[in-house]
Amino acid sequence: MFQIAIDGPSGAGKSTIAKALAAKLSCVYVDTGAMYRTIGLYAARHDIDPGDASKVADCLKDIKLDIKYKDGTQRMLLCGEDVTDLIRTQKISMYASKVSAIPQVREFLMNLQRDFAKENNVVMDGRDIGTVIFPNATVKIFLTSSAEARAKRRFLELAEKGEDVDYEIILAQTLERDNNDLTRAVAPAIAARDAVILDNSELDIKQTLDAVNRIVNDKIKDI
Ligand code: DC
Repeated sequence: MFQIAIDGPSGAGKSTIAKALAAKLSCVYVDTGAMYRTIGLYAARHDIDPGDASKVADCLKDIKLDIKYKDGTQRMLLCGEDVTDLIRTQKISMYASKVSAIPQVREFLMNLQRDFAKENNVVMDGRDIGTVIFPNATVKIFLTSSAEARAKRRFLELAEKGEDVDYEIILAQTLERDNNDLTRAVAPAIAARDAVILDNSELDIKQTLDAVNRIVNDKIKDI
C-alpha cells in the first residue's frame, strides 16, 4: 500500500494534479477539502456561525458524510444528498476555512480520511495529510504558488462558471484563507519536514504534473 500526500494552499492546483496522478497510478483520489466544504455547507444552510466552535461541533452528530465515485470522479454526499456542485462557491470556501479550524471537525474527518487508505492506495490532497493524517506517507509533496498566481487562477475559474467576481476581492479572500489556514492552532497548513516543496507560480499544469511525476518516481521506484 502507498499513500501520496499532496498538501498546500488553496488554488495551487492540488486537486488537478492529484486527480491526474491517481489516474496514472490507478489508485483512489481523495479530495479532503471537499469534506470541510461539506461541513461548511451544512453550517451555512442551518445559519450556524462557522466560527462558533461549540455550535459547529454540536451539529457534527447530525452530519453523515459519504464519498462516492461516479465515472472516476469524487462525489460528496451530505446525509445522502449529492452536494458536489454546491460546495464550490466563494461563500462556502470561507465557511470551510472557518470550520476547518475547529478541532472536533478535524477529528471527525481524520478517521474518515484514514479509513480510505486501509484498503486502497491513495493520492490524497489537503493541508495536513503529510503532517497529521499520514505522517508516514510514502510520498509527501507541498504544492504552492504565490497568492497572486492562485487568486488569478481562482478568478478565472469562477468567472468561467459565470460567478460575478472581482480579482481584488478574490486576492483578499485568498490571503484571508491563507492566514486562517496557516495560523490555526490545530493542524496548520504547513509543509511536513520531509515534504518536497514545489512552487508552481511559473509553471502550467503540464509542467507541474511533470515535476510531480519526477518526485513520485524518485520516491517510489517500483510502483
Ligand atoms: O482545498 P479546499 O480549498 O477545497 O479546502 C477548503 C478548506 O478546507 C480550506 O480553507 C482549508 C481546509 N482544509 C483543511 O483545513 N484541511 C484539509 N486537509 C483540507 C482542507
